[in-house]
Amino acid sequence: MSQIEITIHPDNFNHFVPKLSKVRTRVPMVMGGSGAGKSVAVAQILLLTRVVQEGQSGLALRKYETDVRRSIFPLLKSVITRFGLRKYFKINTTRMHFQFAPNDAEIYCLGASDPESLKSITAEGSPLNWAWLEEANQFKLSDFREIQRRIRGYTPYPKQFWMTFNPVSKLHWLKTELIDKEEPGVRLYKYTYKDNMFLSDDDREILENLKLTSPSDYRVYALGEWGEPSAGLVFPQYQTITESVWNLIPRDAETIFGIDWGYNTPSAVAEYKIVRQPKGLPEIFARQVLYKAGLLTDDIIRVVKPLVKGSYVYCDNAEPDRIQQLREVGILAKPWDKDILTSIDFCKRLSLYVLGKDFENELQNYRWIQGTDKVDRNTPNHLIDTFKGAVWTHLRNNASYKLMPLSYK
Ligand SMILES: Nc1ncnc2c1ncn2[C@@H]1O[C@H](COP(=O)(O)OP(=O)(O)O)[C@@H](O)[C@H]1O
Ligand SMILES: [Mg+2]
Repeated sequence: MSQIEITIHPDNFNHFVPKLSKVRTRVPMVMGGSGAGKSVAVAQILLLTRVVQEGQSGLALRKYETDVRRSIFPLLKSVITRFGLRKYFKINTTRMHFQFAPNDAEIYCLGASDPESLKSITAEGSPLNWAWLEEANQFKLSDFREIQRRIRGYTPYPKQFWMTFNPVSKLHWLKTELIDKEEPGVRLYKYTYKDNMFLSDDDREILENLKLTSPSDYRVYALGEWGEPSAGLVFPQYQTITESVWNLIPRDAETIFGIDWGYNTPSAVAEYKIVRQPKGLPEIFARQVLYKAGLLTDDIIRVVKPLVKGSYVYCDNAEPDRIQQLREVGILAKPWDKDILTSIDFCKRLSLYVLGKDFENELQNYRWIQGTDKVDRNTPNHLIDTFKGAVWTHLRNNASYKLMPLSYK
């Protein structure tokens, strides 16, 4: 191994970086507010100490590959450039791969939602020492376990699983499963925007303004404290996704539709992609297709018919003649089963990813009436009804899900 001399001026680092770089615990959780310098710090530490000084290879991960290309790959590249190390690195942009020529240590940038790429890289045989789960709150616990399984075997340095994240909810598995259950090797390092001397005034102002505009966001993103579950929300845990994430859903995911009839109120149509998991419940990706008042059944058919292509379409059971009308034009329409509490109980355990403003709006407002087990029906719930109706009816009637325990703790 050829030796090179690299010196970087300490002004390039936030105050917490030198100490953090010495951390050798198995799962360093770098959490806190946004704009704290967490991501830059971990990128610097992994590149300079693990890769350059120690020759350790590893995985830089985001949940979704599109985000890898947009965030973690360019971030690592910019740190390399800034430190004048560009000439020592072989960078393959297509594969999002770095190799540090003097010691051959490698970084693979990957999306964890593609277990095949994870498998193929870890099968290549280069011993991996570390993984970095950037925006770890977007991962699932099962993703983390899979990553842990992939990084094993003998290496001269202790293996590390770095995580960077905002503490979005105290019900998140990062807290309930790893921190609260004292998973061995877990240690917390918390920073906020006040620790980041490089933050622009504009960014600082945006964070400080949250205090007035959104106290719950201020708590998480400025103070870096665990988010409280939104009081009384029926579905507090869902994630919004973008069109590009929707387009990444595997082609073979099962597709169903749900229709809640309206006329004075909006008629709502949603498309659901059911992504099976090796274990446990499937993930549900939901896309709002239609949300409009004053539509006749024919209007709805015009929108839905070209989309459904042989998929089941579960409909509000209160209007059987409208369902019949759909069947007459060849749509596989069926009434959904209705049981508000049981369907909620089931649906809230599914990981839900949502695309569509009205859908988000409904989820943000759909609450329990305080102190009861009744849902407040005064906020709009048309798309939510398609979720409970279509997804619950479909999964409960599907033989492969029969064995799922229905109790919810
Ligand atoms: N060491 C650094 N050198 C230069 N700029 C930095 C450094 N650390 C952070 N920054 C700036 O602060 C911003 C926020 O840092 P980032 O690591 O993205 O915060 P977090 O991950 O905590 O949200 C970055 O976009 C960058 O502009
Ligand atoms: Mg970050």
